[in-house]
Amino acid sequence: MKFFADTAEIADIKELAATGLLDGVTTNPSLIMKSGRDFMEVTKEICGITDGPVSAEVVALDHAGMMREAEILRKIADNVCIKVPLTIDGLKTCKALTGEGTMVNVTLCFSANQALLAAKAGATFISPFVGRHDDNGFDGMELIGDIRLIYDNYDFRTEILVASVRHGLHVLQSARIGADVMTAPPAVIKALFKHVLTDKGIEGFLADWAKTGQAI
Ligand code: G3P
Repeated sequence: MKFFADTAEIADIKELAATGLLDGVTTNPSLIMKSGRDFMEVTKEICGITDGPVSAEVVALDHAGMMREAEILRKIADNVCIKVPLTIDGLKTCKALTGEGTMVNVTLCFSANQALLAAKAGATFISPFVGRHDDNGFDGMELIGDIRLIYDNYDFRTEILVASVRHGLHVLQSARIGADVMTAPPAVIKALFKHVLTDKGIEGFLADWAKTGQAI
């Protein structure tokens, strides 16, 4: 499963990229707002840190406007992936852009039928929001399972990009189901490395090593 960082914070992206485990980045208008950076500038900088797809979201709601914005965004770098909302105009834009060889991430997906439509529109990635789904009393991971089943039934190439990931259990369940990608805030990714018994084990080994009086 590929790991994308869901952030526009350069320091965090650099730190994760240095581990060699970062496969891409996703941003959205809220994350750009939080970063306080210029959208074009920060997107260009992120595209220079990772070779993987970097999702940049359009804000127009009509097809012509989305195409105009995508035209500007895809010139930033070859690894820019245009993010469009799951609406009729968004999917029309998805079809047009992927037809021209541009990567498209269809976002704000909350049903398996929406994911089916995105795959039919040729989406590179579909982003079901599991955390927000859970928040609203639905089972986010059940949605991922349904999409996996449907995509496998018809051999759709669209990658399932689990979004709105809130904790390690979402990551584990995504991997069990066979999602292609998950995108999570840097803090959630960093927490995956941690285990209390790992820390305790290191502490014990180092204490015993000190007693040997040796050095490597
Ligand atoms: O980038 C889209 C998605 O991951 C947003 O997550 O935490 O705002 O629901 P969240």
